[in-house]
Amino acid sequence: MDHFHYLDRVLQAEEVPVPEIAAAVGTPFYLYSTATLRRHFTAFDQAFAGLDHLTCFAVKSCSNIAVLRLFAQLGGGADIVSGGELYRALTAGVDPARIVYSGVGKTKPEIRYALESGILMFNLESEQELVAVQECAAELKLTARVSFRVNPDVDPQTHAYISTGLAKNKFGIAIAEAGRVYRAARDLANIEIVGVSCHIGSQLTQVSPFIDTVAKLKDFLARLAGDGIEIKYLDIGGGLGIRYHQEEPPLPAEYGAAIREALGDLACTLILEPGRVIVGNAGILVTKVLFTKSGQKKFIVVDAGMNDLARPSLYDAHHGIIPVVKGEAGTEVADVVGPICETGDFLARGQEVPVAVPGELLAVQSAGAYGFTMSSNYNSRPRVAEVLVNGREFHLIRRRETYEDLIRGEAIPDFLK
Ligand code: LLP
Repeated sequence: MDHFHYLDRVLQAEEVPVPEIAAAVGTPFYLYSTATLRRHFTAFDQAFAGLDHLTCFAVKSCSNIAVLRLFAQLGGGADIVSGGELYRALTAGVDPARIVYSGVGKTKPEIRYALESGILMFNLESEQELVAVQECAAELKLTARVSFRVNPDVDPQTHAYISTGLAKNKFGIAIAEAGRVYRAARDLANIEIVGVSCHIGSQLTQVSPFIDTVAKLKDFLARLAGDGIEIKYLDIGGGLGIRYHQEEPPLPAEYGAAIREALGDLACTLILEPGRVIVGNAGILVTKVLFTKSGQKKFIVVDAGMNDLARPSLYDAHHGIIPVVKGEAGTEVADVVGPICETGDFLARGQEVPVAVPGELLAVQSAGAYGFTMSSNYNSRPRVAEVLVNGREFHLIRRRETYEDLIRGEAIPDFLK
C-alpha cells in the first residue's frame, strides 16, 4: 500500500497535491512519501519480529541521506557496496555497528575506510579479497569482522541482469569451495569470522528460491560447525520483488514466515538486505509532456529520459504511467519517450497511457528503487530534484543540478589555453 491517491482528480502525495510540488520545484523530479517508506520498512522489519535480526537497507536502491536517516531512526542498518555508500550512510546517521559491506570489487582505500569506521562486517566474495582485507587490517592494527558470500547456485527466476545466485554469475564463492576459504580465513591474524552471507538476485516474485537457498545455507553452517567454525550472523541478502505490473510477489509477512520456517531453530542473528521492497512503491517520477507525435506510432515526448530513469531501457522494465490531473480523455497505447538521442530512450513502449497534451504532468509509478540512484548526466542533462513529502509538508531533499554542477571538476589544460 502506498500514499499516492487522487482527490478530486488530482494526484496527491500524502496530503500534498502533486501539481503544487511541480510548480515549486519544476520538472522532472522524484517524489517520495515518508508515510509509505515508514510503512514499508516497518512491515518488512515486523515480518521478522521475535527473531533476532537486523534489517540493513540496501543503500544502492535509494541513497538520499534523508531516506537513509528515516530508516536509521526506525532502527535499520545499511547494506553498502562502496566507499561512497558508506559515506552516505554515516552522514545520514546510520550506526556503523549496523553496516554490512557487500560487493565483488572493494578497493583498499574503501576497505580501510570501512575498517576505520568500525562497520559490523565485510561480506567477502573471493580469497584475494580476503587477503586485501587482512593486509589493510594489519596495517591499521585492527580486526576485520568478515563473512563470505556463498553462491548457492539457485535460480532466482528473475531478469538475467539481476540474477546473482547462479554458478555462472560473478558473485560469491561456490558453496562447495567455501569451506576451504573459511578454514584459510581462520588462520589470519586480523580476521574474525562472524558470518555467512548470500544474495541470490533482485525482484524475486516467489519464495521458493529463497527457501532453497536457506536450506543450502543451513547445510553449509552445519559443515562449518563440524570444522569448529561458529557463526554469529546469517545474512540472506535482499531481493524480494514488488508489483510493477502484473507480478504477484509474496508479501513481506509471507516471505518472513517462510524464512522463519526454513531457518528452524538456527541460533544466529539474521541479517536482511532489502532495498526495492521498501522504497520501490514509495516513489514516483513526475515528468511533463513536451510534445506529442502521431505517425505510424503515437509518441509522447516528456522531459524525463533514460538518464533519469534507466530501468525501462536497461531491463525492459514496466512502470505504470498515470496522469497527475485526470482529464476526460482516457487512455491510449503509446510510447512515452524522453529527449535523449537514442531510440532506446523510453519510459514506456506500446503501453496503455493517459491521452496527454503538451504541458500536462505524468507520474511514472514504482520509481523509488533504482530510479534516482541509477540516473546519470548523459546528454549533459542535470540530474533532477528529489522531494520528500511528509503529511502536509514537502521538502527538497536534493536540489536539481545546475549547468555549473555539470562541469564541476573539469578543466581545460594549459596547452589548450
Ligand atoms: N544485497 C545485495 C548484495 C545486492 O546486490 C542487492 C541488490 C540487494 C541487497 C538489494 O536487493 P533488492 O532487495 O533491492 O532486490 N538495478 C536493478 C536492481 C539491481 C539489484 C542489485 N543488487 C533494477 O533496477 O532492477
